Amino acid sequence: MKIAVIGAGHIGNTLGKKWSTAGYAVYYGVREPGNPKYSHLWESGEVYNIHRAIETAKVVLLSIPGDAVTEFVETCQDSLEGKLIIDATNNIRGGPMNNLELLYEKTQNTQLIRAFSTLGWENFENPVINGQQVDLFFCGHSGARAVAEKLISDIGLRPIYLGPLEKADLVDGLTRIWFELVFEQAHSRRLMLKMVEKD
Ligand SMILES: NC(=O)c1ccc[n+]([C@@H]2O[C@H](COP(=O)([O-])OP(=O)(O)OC[C@H]3O[C@@H](n4cnc5c(N)ncnc54)[C@H](OP(=O)(O)O)[C@@H]3O)[C@@H](O)[C@H]2O)c1
Repeated sequence: MKIAVIGAGHIGNTLGKKWSTAGYAVYYGVREPGNPKYSHLWESGEVYNIHRAIETAKVVLLSIPGDAVTEFVETCQDSLEGKLIIDATNNIRGGPMNNLELLYEKTQNTQLIRAFSTLGWENFENPVINGQQVDLFFCGHSGARAVAEKLISDIGLRPIYLGPLEKADLVDGLTRIWFELVFEQAHSRRLMLKMVEKD
């Protein structure tokens, strides 16, 4: 499967590298593909401009700053048609944490997933803490659930589905808890929230 990774910073590059290792074809979509600052990406994928990356892939990971998404959607509306879009962005300056409503309203025939937004990127790079696998809570279109679960599992995380898009606020609540613990209570960024269920 081909994955366009839009925004190749901490989240994009971490997930892109791991998906590449798992056998996916990764296409990084960046603003200046010719810039040598992206040369470290070549070992895990192709570096394209944003439109070309989206057009090449079926799955699109959105890993740019939350406040850049409005402009991104306006510019890329046509090429996003029919894609499975994973929104990992967080609006940290207020408003809804996710960008699902915008994506839903402005794109055609897309399947939307809210994932990779609740934990720091270090936990995706190394998804085991104290010998325990990191859980990733996510939500989105049920038709995209199986693909999303596979993509999450292939990062090394345990996927836990919370339901359709309407559950995004629940997912984002977990992000707020993570932010509170890490940024206000000074806990480590290598911190996860785990579901433990009696057999
Ligand atoms: N860091 C985390 O642990 C974490 C965890 C969960 C979710 N998130 C969310 O994931 C998103 C990415 O976070 P990050 O930490 O990976 O950020 P980052 O390291 O700063 O990387 C952001 C990337 O987005 C690109 N970018 C910036 N503005 C853009 C624009 N207007 N259009 C297109 N691309 C643009 C940057 O490209 P240039 O190189 O061209 O500047 C950069 O490659 C954010 O929404 C963040 O809230 C982050």
